[in-house]
Formats: sequence, C-alpha cells, structure tokens
Amino acid sequence: MEFLPKHIAHYAEEHTRYEGDVLAALEKETYLKVLMPRMCSGHLQGQILRMFTAMIQPSRVLEIGTYTGYSAIAMAQAMPENGLLYTIDINEELKPLVQSFIKLAGLESRIGLHFGDAMQIVPSLNENWDLVFIDADKENYLNYYKMVLPKMKIGGFIIADNVLWSGKVCDPEINDPETLSLKKFNDYVHKDPRVENVLLPVRDGLMILRKISD
Ligand SMILES: C[S@@+](CC[C@H](N)C(=O)[O-])C[C@H]1O[C@@H](n2cnc3c(N)ncnc32)[C@H](O)[C@@H]1O
Repeated sequence: MEFLPKHIAHYAEEHTRYEGDVLAALEKETYLKVLMPRMCSGHLQGQILRMFTAMIQPSRVLEIGTYTGYSAIAMAQAMPENGLLYTIDINEELKPLVQSFIKLAGLESRIGLHFGDAMQIVPSLNENWDLVFIDADKENYLNYYKMVLPKMKIGGFIIADNVLWSGKVCDPEINDPETLSLKKFNDYVHKDPRVENVLLPVRDGLMILRKISD
C-alpha cells in the first residue's frame, strides 16, 4: 500500500540527499536479480536510517534482516570511524551480492555479516547496542525486542520496520500470524515503561524506541 499520493512521495524523494552511486547500484541490482525487491529500504528510508545514525553516532549497531545490504550500508556510512555494525540474515544465498556491495562501499572493516537464524545468533553476540534495526520475520519482532533491550545502552535506540504492515494492523478483522505479531509488538512496546516511542508513518511504518531505563 502507498501511504502518500505518488507525486508527493516523488517530491520527497527528489528533495532527499542522493544516496550515492553504490547504494543506487545496489537498489537497481536488487530489483533486477533478487526476489521480493520491495523489501529493500531504498532511497528515502535508507537516507532516514542514515540520518538517524548520523544523529546517534552509535559505536555498536545491530541489524536483524540484512537482505541485500542496502540498509546496513546506508547506516554504516554514517557511523563513527571506530564503529561496528553487525547484520544478520537467514538467507545465505544473498551472501555474494551483499559481500560485493560492502566491498564496493569500502565498509568491509565496519560491517560484520552473519548468516543464520537471528534467534540463535543475537544471543551469541557479546555487545552493548547503541542502535538496533529490526527488519526480519514479523512473527519474531517481540522476541527480538525482548532479547536486545537488556543489551541496549540507556539512551540507545531501536528502530523496527513495517510496523504499519500496509495498514493491516489497524484492522480488527485481520488476524493472520504476521499482522497479529505486529499488533502485539506495537501494543507491547507502546506500554513498556523502559522505553519511549514514536510511530513514524513513513513508508510501511517505523517504530522508533529509545531506552530510558533498565
Ligand atoms: C525486509 S528484509 C530486510 C531488508 C533490509 N533491512 C533493507 O532495509 O534493505 C527481511 C530479511 O529478513 C530475513 N530473515 C527472515 N527471517 C529471519 C531470521 N529468522 N533470521 C535472520 N534473518 C531473517 C530475510 O531473509 C530477509 O532478507
């Protein structure tokens, strides 16, 4: 579902910083060669993630759901020199494409790629996160949140993508597993006193969470 009329969405993209040749090529390659290219963050959302990263200046970032690496590269480009971004995806077939674009972007030393089930990998990463981007299987959003929150620094941010799920979360009649999980996630984090939150109705909905207490 498009939330904004096409011409307004187009105007917003046109008045957003150019993503650079590497990300532009990666989005093109994703649409040409990979299944479900709409999963790629793309220009506007990529620049929003980059801007948040530039504001937060995180030294440790975790991304759950790499896909073709677009969002990982967009965020890593704005990280401080000594920063590290870990990104996880269950689909190992994506590895050569992601690796080649990380190399093209000159970010091999800043991005750690992990393949496997994030439910298994996240607990094995011994870091305290400044920024976490949750963008993988919707059924596990709440599990990922519960897993990472204790390992977030106070003042750290979690961003969760697709929380509006094309508007399905607003419809009490829609109860498929993914929609139900996202409704549960949105309700839970909204009531959680450990975080403050804003649901940004950008693209498919970004839930922005800031940890305020343990
Ligand atoms: C929406 S895409 C990520 C898009 C990417 N973050 C971007 O913005 O360009 C979701 C990804 O999550 C991955 N995924 C799904 N279930 C997963 C799991 N249990 N563990 C790790 N990755 C998973 C999928 O393989 C897919 O590539």
